[in-house]
Amino acid sequence: MLHDFIHLKAPGNWINDPNGFIYYRGQYHLFYQHFPYLPRWGTMHWGHAVSKDLVHWEHRGIALYPSKAYDRNGVFSGSAAEVDGKLYLYYTAIRYEQENPDNIHRAVNNRFWASQALLISPDGVCFDNLEAKRQILPVAAAPEEGDPQNTRDPKVWRAADGSFRMVLGSTRNGVGELLFYRSADGLTWTPANRYTAPALGTTLECPDLFPLGDGWLLLGCPMGITADGLQYPDQACCLPVDFDETTCRLTPKGTPAMVDWGLDLYAPQTTVDAAGRRVMIGWMRMPRPVEGTPDDRPPWRGMMSLPRLVEWRDGQVCFPVHPNVSACFTKPETDLSPLAAHKPVRLRGTLHNGQLWNVGGYRLRMADGQLFADRSAVMDGLPGCRLTAHTPPLGADTCRVDLFVEENLIEIFLDDGRYVLSHVVFGLDQTLEGDFTVWTTA
Ligand code: FRU
Repeated sequence: MLHDFIHLKAPGNWINDPNGFIYYRGQYHLFYQHFPYLPRWGTMHWGHAVSKDLVHWEHRGIALYPSKAYDRNGVFSGSAAEVDGKLYLYYTAIRYEQENPDNIHRAVNNRFWASQALLISPDGVCFDNLEAKRQILPVAAAPEEGDPQNTRDPKVWRAADGSFRMVLGSTRNGVGELLFYRSADGLTWTPANRYTAPALGTTLECPDLFPLGDGWLLLGCPMGITADGLQYPDQACCLPVDFDETTCRLTPKGTPAMVDWGLDLYAPQTTVDAAGRRVMIGWMRMPRPVEGTPDDRPPWRGMMSLPRLVEWRDGQVCFPVHPNVSACFTKPETDLSPLAAHKPVRLRGTLHNGQLWNVGGYRLRMADGQLFADRSAVMDGLPGCRLTAHTPPLGADTCRVDLFVEENLIEIFLDDGRYVLSHVVFGLDQTLEGDFTVWTTA
């Protein structure tokens, strides 16, 4: 069995979005979008991994795969709910209008139909793709039902009254839309409401909605245009909202904000952890596969971010690193180059205006009350990659930096998750320069 520590990585070939993230029967289950044949996107399956602590992951192979006429071209993203002790896995079933004859894993002109489906697992171990699947919402037949192609990514949760709600990401007349459904038993669903706004881009992908502070938080990925004030397309955003669970009426309050300022994180999904906290994991997009990993894994592309809590603090959504992660970094490191050991390393310190850190060639600089990151030296000269990123103004001359570095990923938590900036990297060297303490795992 393949294992991962700290970050869940593709077991080989391609992964994207986290799916079906849930704490169920004493362990975390994390499924993910997976193309098991090549390190690039293709017919989607759900890969599966489990963990007792969100830190040590065990890969469990493929859980969901195309097996029905309605999902023969892909099992797209979705979520999990526990119902009467069973694990309900909701997903979007894809059927291409026409398969590309030269590559049946892609559709001609990228045209396909989407319906919503469910697989019921009795225990989180068996996934009967022949007998335990059913379609729960057919392909939309009229605009009131949604878009027949771009309606996807069911996020299901149990409402305060014990019944169920579902939110889907969709599009209407070129503007992103949320579709809400309700159900008494998790099987039969009826439309409840809809919400559309330019802040949802052209299509909204991977919505997630949950109570936070004295309101609710909407997470989602608006495609194409982005919300007011957000300069970068196709990024995960969060928006504080009011939400009435009875009517499924959503009213925005506040402005949309980035989930991560590094611009590599996408499609985050949350669940509630063993201690009742809201925890989020996102997909880190990788521009090329990694080869030659010591555990003999085939070339792999795509990994998951560190688990982050989602908290409401001083009128702002914050994403501090999950305490189970911090708890692993107990060993103060005096070796000058722990990066050479290819183990996860944590750096902690305070950056003042004008100061620099150099982490294996990755550069951090605090200037004019903002943190600037530059990965030009550790991106293999890959074309089309954004090499620099920065936080918004922090309103201070200094910030506390908690940085986690692994061979292909740097995640920077500022002031306990007030802002997070994560970057995929390739070819870090052994340099460590800056005013920080260094910690490794025992
Ligand atoms: C987001 C996404 C989802 C879709 C899945 C397909 O990255 O496009 O909307 O369900 O990926 O792999």
